[in-house]
Amino acid sequence: MRILAIETSCDETGVAIVEGTKTPEGFRFALLGAAALNSQAALHAEYGGVFPNLAKREHEKNLPIMLEQALTQSSKETPLSVRNHLSELGIDAIAVTQGPGLEPALWTGIEFAQKLAKEKNLPLLLTNHMEGHLLSSLVQSGKLENVTLPVLALLISGGHTEFDVMREWFHYEVIGQTLDDAVGEAYDKVARMLGLPYPGGPEISKLADISRASQKLLPKRSSDLPRPSSDELRARPFSPEIFVSLPRPMLHTKNCDFSFSGLKTAVLYAIRDIKATSSRAKESPLTPEEKKAFAREFEDAVGDVFVAKTRRALEETGARSFVIGGGVAANRYLRERLYTLIQDEFPDVTFYLPELSITGDNAVMIAEAALARALSGINDAPKENEEVRAYSNRFSILAPK
Ligand code: KG4
Ligand code: ZN
Repeated sequence: MRILAIETSCDETGVAIVEGTKTPEGFRFALLGAAALNSQAALHAEYGGVFPNLAKREHEKNLPIMLEQALTQSSKETPLSVRNHLSELGIDAIAVTQGPGLEPALWTGIEFAQKLAKEKNLPLLLTNHMEGHLLSSLVQSGKLENVTLPVLALLISGGHTEFDVMREWFHYEVIGQTLDDAVGEAYDKVARMLGLPYPGGPEISKLADISRASQKLLPKRSSDLPRPSSDELRARPFSPEIFVSLPRPMLHTKNCDFSFSGLKTAVLYAIRDIKATSSRAKESPLTPEEKKAFAREFEDAVGDVFVAKTRRALEETGARSFVIGGGVAANRYLRERLYTLIQDEFPDVTFYLPELSITGDNAVMIAEAALARALSGINDAPKENEEVRAYSNRFSILAPK
């Protein structure tokens, strides 16, 4: 079965054509040499975050061009016009992200897909963005096979931070989630406070890695050291390895929930304190050393929380497989921390680390989720006369169909 998928839930426009087959062990996917992705990050950088109407405008502009590109790439022949293309390529259905995401952005994709499906007389399949992240992260070298249930998923992105359990294929239970900001959002906001460009995740990660490399020889990590008194701080110049100490929110709460807004505020206050205790002007930016120290301590805090909560979630669910997905799952340090946890404490659990090309938003993941469901006999087409809706960020993997 071949699916053309469209993803426009946030600031990435994605079009992909994927072929899927059902095997006795699960599913196999082949990207038909056609995927298109167009990051709007530079545009949104000016606003320090994603600006919904700008995203919508860009999606509207990008979609026809990217559809043509995707179709051309997947057709080995001289490109035909889009009008004749879809049937030539044996496409069986059009899948589109229904949510969660930014409503104006989602709508652009849905309307485009609806029109295309109608024109080509193909079924339209409505796909959940989080299910796309989850299922595609389980795919290793094109195969989604021999996965042992239950699967525990930690989905970490700019809009979501949640633990989902899949005890039966395509049935999910959310067993923990952020009570306020998503972790990617916290990365982006802290990056902004540190004067780093959007999206902030990779920027913070880079600085934190540099800091770790340069402090390798220190006997202790900053979080192990006691916080100095404010008199002590005033008496000596800034020293990153002693100075920056941030909280680990909800580390010891007896559930699998998260909270990142306090961590973000703690960074804000710590920056203010540093500026107040040094003799420089309030508006002057942090030094490169200070930025590195903040980036590292922030990422250490996130890592400590993820490790503790994942340990709890694995113990609570008895999951046999663990997978991470979403934009933040590209983070090298967090991947390593979770890998160590599984290796040391849960050697019987299989850890699925997503390929880096599919951690961020993309249309391949939408195609793969739509294919896995369709090949399992699930009908994701809207019912006759059903008014198709876009589901905003309030809904996670459990968004109603
Ligand atoms: O899944 P995604 O592409 O979009 C949403 O569905 O939200 O995730 C985007 C988020 C952004 O907040 C971005 O800063 C973060 O993923 N991100 C990272 C890294 N790469 C992207 N965060 C930490 N470390 C990274 N290497
Ligand atoms: Zn996403």
